[in-house]
Amino acid sequence: MHENPLRLKSIHHVGFLVGNAKQAAHYYRHTFGFSQVAYAGLETGHRDAASYVLEQGKIRLVLVTPLSPDGADAAHVQRHGDGVRDIAFHVEDADRAFEEAVRRGAAAAVEPHETRDEHGAVRHAAIHAYGDTLHSFISYVDYEGPFLPGFRPQDVAVPCAGLLRVDHIVGNVELGKMNEWAEWYSRVLGFKRYISFDDKDISTDYSALMSIVMSDDAYAIKFPINEPAAGKRKSQIDEYLDYYGGPGVQHIALLSEDITATVGRLRERGVEFLRVPDAYYDVLPSRVGEIDEAVDTVRQLGILVDRDEDGYLLQLFTRPVEDRPTLFFEIIQRKGSRGFGKGNFKALFEAIEQEQALRGNL
Ligand code: FE2
Repeated sequence: MHENPLRLKSIHHVGFLVGNAKQAAHYYRHTFGFSQVAYAGLETGHRDAASYVLEQGKIRLVLVTPLSPDGADAAHVQRHGDGVRDIAFHVEDADRAFEEAVRRGAAAAVEPHETRDEHGAVRHAAIHAYGDTLHSFISYVDYEGPFLPGFRPQDVAVPCAGLLRVDHIVGNVELGKMNEWAEWYSRVLGFKRYISFDDKDISTDYSALMSIVMSDDAYAIKFPINEPAAGKRKSQIDEYLDYYGGPGVQHIALLSEDITATVGRLRERGVEFLRVPDAYYDVLPSRVGEIDEAVDTVRQLGILVDRDEDGYLLQLFTRPVEDRPTLFFEIIQRKGSRGFGKGNFKALFEAIEQEQALRGNL
C-alpha cells in the first residue's frame, strides 16, 4: 500500500512565468518539439496575462506572460527573469489535497475555488514551496476541454523530439536549507528520501553541492533538492541563487526512450548542450562496460553514460535556456538504472565550471 496523503496522481503541468510567452512558445516548439495545444489571452477575454500550453508525450509546459507591470506575476518576472512558477499536480480532490497539505504545515497560496467554461469545471488550489515556487492542486469536476477552463484549443503541431514525460524536477535552495525542504516534502507530501549525495560525491577542485532526492512512494514524482557546499570557488548553486534571486527550479529532466534519436533531433533544431572533454569517451567503455548504443554515436552526440547495480542510464544537459544562468533541461533515458548519473558528476561539473568561468562567475 503506497502512502499518498494528498492523493497526487501526476504532474499536471509545469507553469513558467516569462517576459515574452509568444516568443518562448516559438522556442519550445521549434527547438524541443513541443506542440501548442491551447491558448488564453486578450482574444479569449483574459485581460491580465497571455498563456500558451505546450505538449509532448505526457509533458505539459505552460508559458505565461503578465500583460501589465502590476501584480505578483510581473514582480516574479522582474525578480527572477524567466523561470518556473508552478509545479502543478493532478489530484483526486483539490480541496482535500489543499486542506491536508495546510494541516501538515504548508503555507496556503490560493484557496480552493472552481473555474468553469463551456467544456466543464475544475477545482484549483495552491500552496507555497521553496522560494516563490508554488504547487498547485488541480482536480477535474466534469472538464473535457483542451487544458483548463478559459483556454481555447489550438493545433500548432510540430514534429516531436521523442520526449515522453518528466523524470524529475530539481530545486536549488540556500546553504543550510536542503534538509529543511527535504523534511517539508516528507511531512507535507508524504515523500520519502530516495537517495542523497554529499559533497564528497559532488565536488571538483573548485566547487561543490549537496543533494537529497525526495520521491513519492510509487517513484513517479522525483524532486531532488540541492544546496551549495563550501569549495575553493563559487558553487554552481550559488551562481543560480544569485541570478535567480533566491531558491527555484534548477532543471527539469525529460525522459526519452531513444536518447540518441532525441538528442540528434534536438541538436539539429538548435538546442545547445553542455560538452564534456573528449577524454570522457576514451575511458567510457572501461567505466560502464557493454551498452546497447554505439560508443561513437554517443561520443558524437556528447551523451553521458553511467552504470549502477540496477543497470545504466544515458543523460545530457542543455545550457541554461535564458540569458541568466538559471534554468536548464536534462534529457535522460533509463536502462534499468534508477539513479541520477553520479559517475558523471565530476566530468559534468567541470564542464559547468568552465562555462561559469566564461561568465566571470567562478
Ligand atoms: Fe537531473
